[in-house]
Amino acid sequence: MDDLSPRPGDLEPVETASLDELRALQTERLVWSVRHAYSCVPHYRASLDAAGVHPDDVTGLDDLARLPFTTKADLRENYPFGMFAVPREQVVRIHASSGTTGKPTVVGYTRDDVETWATVVARSIRAAGGRAGHVLHNAYGYGLFTGGLGAHYGAEKLGCTVVPVSGGMTERQVQLIQDFRPDVIMVTPSYMLALVDEMERQGVDPRSTSLKVGIFGAEPWTNDMRREVEGRLDMHAVDIYGLSEVIGPGVASECVETKDGLHVWEDHFYPEVIDPVTGEVLPDGEEGELVLTSLTKQAMPVLRYRTRDLTRLLPGTARTMRRMEKITGRTDDMIILRGVNLFPTQVEELILSATTELSPHFQCVLEREGHLDFMTVVVERRETAGDEAARSAGVRLQHLVKSSIGVSVGVHVVDPGTIERSVGKMKRIVDARAPR
Ligand code: DLL
Repeated sequence: MDDLSPRPGDLEPVETASLDELRALQTERLVWSVRHAYSCVPHYRASLDAAGVHPDDVTGLDDLARLPFTTKADLRENYPFGMFAVPREQVVRIHASSGTTGKPTVVGYTRDDVETWATVVARSIRAAGGRAGHVLHNAYGYGLFTGGLGAHYGAEKLGCTVVPVSGGMTERQVQLIQDFRPDVIMVTPSYMLALVDEMERQGVDPRSTSLKVGIFGAEPWTNDMRREVEGRLDMHAVDIYGLSEVIGPGVASECVETKDGLHVWEDHFYPEVIDPVTGEVLPDGEEGELVLTSLTKQAMPVLRYRTRDLTRLLPGTARTMRRMEKITGRTDDMIILRGVNLFPTQVEELILSATTELSPHFQCVLEREGHLDFMTVVVERRETAGDEAARSAGVRLQHLVKSSIGVSVGVHVVDPGTIERSVGKMKRIVDARAPR
C-alpha cells in the first residue's frame, strides 16, 4: 500500500494548534453559538429558559453541561423548518434523513455552512490520504442523504477530480473504476464489499485496481472489516463519521498514518460522551453516548445533540483534536437477548476474526418463540468455501457467540448472493418478532 501520510505544510494550522489555542477558539465559538441559538430559535429559547440557563451564564466549555440536550424528537416536533436560526431565504440547501417511521428530520445550510462543510470534508479526505489531483469515485448516494453531496463538495474543495456516481448500478461502477482509474473511493463499507464481489464476478482482480484508499462511513464497521477490505483490495481503508443533524459526513475522520480512531473536528463540533441512561457527562476514555454541539453553524445550530452513537473519547495523536473510537453501534441497534446486550458489530468481528469460510455479508434476524426472543445470524459462505466446511464454521461461530458474548443464537449459513445487497446503509437487523 502507498505511503499517503501528509507532507509538511499540507495541514490547516488548527489541526496542529496547541490544546490551549484550540480550547480558546472553542470557548469563543461556543459563546457565539449558544447566543445565536437562543436569540434566533424559539425552541432553544424555551428549553434554555425552562432549564434556568441564560446565554450570559455560558462563558466557558465547562458551562456546556448546564444546557439541556437536544434530541431527534425536538427536530421532528419542529418539522420542517422550525429549528432554523436564519430566514428561510438565507438557506441555500436542505437535506433530510429518511427515518423509518414518521416525519423525516430536515436540516438546512447557509452559504457559509456549505463552505464550512466542504472544509471539514476536504480535511477528512486529506487525513485519509486524498490529495489535490486525485480522481475520486463517489458512490455515496446523492439526494436528500448528506453522503453524496457532502463528499462531493469536500472533494472538489480539496482539488480532486470527482466522479459523482452515487449508489447503485454495481456493474457499471466496476466498469468506471476500470476506465477512470480513481485513486480514492468514498462509499459505505457494505457497498464496497458488493463492489468487490462484482469485480470478482467480472474477472477483475480487486488488488489490481488503481484505488489507493477507501473512505468508509455512514454505518458501523470494525477493524476486522478494515483488514478484510485492505487485504482484498490492497488499499487503505479509513473511517469517516457524521450525521445530518450536525452537518453530514466530516464531523470526525481517521488519519491514514495512524488508523487509530476518528479525530473529531472539534473546532466546529464539540464532543461530549454521556451515560445514556442518566445523562451524566463521562470523563474521556469511558464509553457512552456521543453528544455534539455545533460551534459555527448558522442555519441550524445544535446544542448538545444526542447522537445515540456509542463510543469513547481519546486524546489526539496524529492531530491535536481528540479521537473517538470506532462506533460500536447505535443505542437503538442494541439487541437485548435474554438480558444480554449485543451489537451486530460484535458478530461481524467474530465472523471475520474466527472464520475463513464465512463472509461479512450477514444479518441478525430476530424472532419470537412463545415469550422468548431468539436471534439467528444469517451469514453467507464465501465462494471459496465448500458447503461442509462452511456449515462447520457456522457451528463454530455459534459456540463463539455463546462463549464470548454470553448468549445462545442460531447460525444459518446460506449461499453467496442470498442476502440482499444494499447500495447505501446495510440493514443488519431484521426484526421479525410479532408484537407482544
Ligand atoms: O450517514 C452521514 C455520512 C455520510 C457519514 C457518509 C459518513 C459518510 P445520517 O444518514 O444522518 O448521516 O446518519 C447518521 O449514521 O448517527 C451513525 O449512527 C451512522 N454513522 C455515520 N458514520 C458512521 C461511521 C450520515 N463512520 C448516522 N461509523 C450516525 C459508524 C456511522 N456509524
